Amino acid sequence: METGLLDAFSQEYKKLLENELKSLVEKLNAPSIIKESMIYSLEAGGKRIRPLLLFATMDAFGLDPRKGLLAAAAIEMIHTYSLIHDDLPSMDNDDLRRGKPTNHKVFGDAIAILAGDALLTYSFEVMGNIPNENAAPETKLKLTVEMAKAAGTEGMVGGQVADMEGEKKALSLEELEYIHIHKTGKLLRFSVLAGAILAGAKHCQIEDLSAFAHHLGLAFQIQDDILDVVGNEHLIGKPVGSDTTNQKSTYPQLLSLDGARDALQMQINLSKEYLEKTGLNTKLLMEITDLVASRDH
Ligand code: IPE
Ligand code: IPE
Ligand code: MG
Ligand code: MG
Ligand code: MG
Repeated sequence: METGLLDAFSQEYKKLLENELKSLVEKLNAPSIIKESMIYSLEAGGKRIRPLLLFATMDAFGLDPRKGLLAAAAIEMIHTYSLIHDDLPSMDNDDLRRGKPTNHKVFGDAIAILAGDALLTYSFEVMGNIPNENAAPETKLKLTVEMAKAAGTEGMVGGQVADMEGEKKALSLEELEYIHIHKTGKLLRFSVLAGAILAGAKHCQIEDLSAFAHHLGLAFQIQDDILDVVGNEHLIGKPVGSDTTNQKSTYPQLLSLDGARDALQMQINLSKEYLEKTGLNTKLLMEITDLVASRDH
């Protein structure tokens, strides 16, 4: 496998994304505390895997990833909002995120909740304001509706609700799979879909990319569960053992660590099969897939 391509690509596009995120929030006319709180979490770092998936999908179609900058920023805003709320005392009650104190630890619960609300709302404004030369109005409408579905009640929110309701209960593997596919998989899948929509992909390409991203999303959350057990707090930037403390059902808890690793590998293999079927130039997407399988943070 050709490697190293992703390093240069991620360096370049992460920088563009991070500059865009900051300037999008800085230009808002609002009380400074909410902007500070939004920027605090956006700038805390993170792997930017969702924006990279969007950029790499556009690259697979031979399109300039820069045309996806605002769509990528919108997705990263939704993701960051979900983390701020996920860490709240009434949810996972975590004190560390992206290697820094969680948003509510610095700004208090009220501002943290509002910063999440602000990021979620702003993401739709940003998506709707993509210049017409980068996405035709009907493309923006499709992106907006798909983003709402991925983040909303039938997507991430539904998954988060099932995750909270599943605490202190013995869930079946099927129930756990529902949680993972929704709380994490849907937004990750949308990142790939958004790249394909921007590229004007054909129906069959959308189907294969969507199946690829579905399995990748599940793999991503299985590894997140594994890292909650065997990860290094300095590397993952969040507390190890949070799932055990909250009595969550996880892949390692249901299948043992080895069983979870097998399930992860199975999802990675399925992702790659669908990716190969697309017939696109998928070198970067393949490297991202390998990274998801082997990541230590
Ligand atoms: C963490 O996501 C929460 C999940 C959905 C698993 P990431 O692992 O992508 O977090 P960051 O953005 O890199 O901090
Ligand atoms: C969170 O899942 C998924 C979302 C934030 C939507 P987790 O609760 O497992 O994520 P971490 O481990 O806190 O990042
Ligand atoms: Mg959670
Ligand atoms: Mg959590
Ligand atoms: Mg987790």
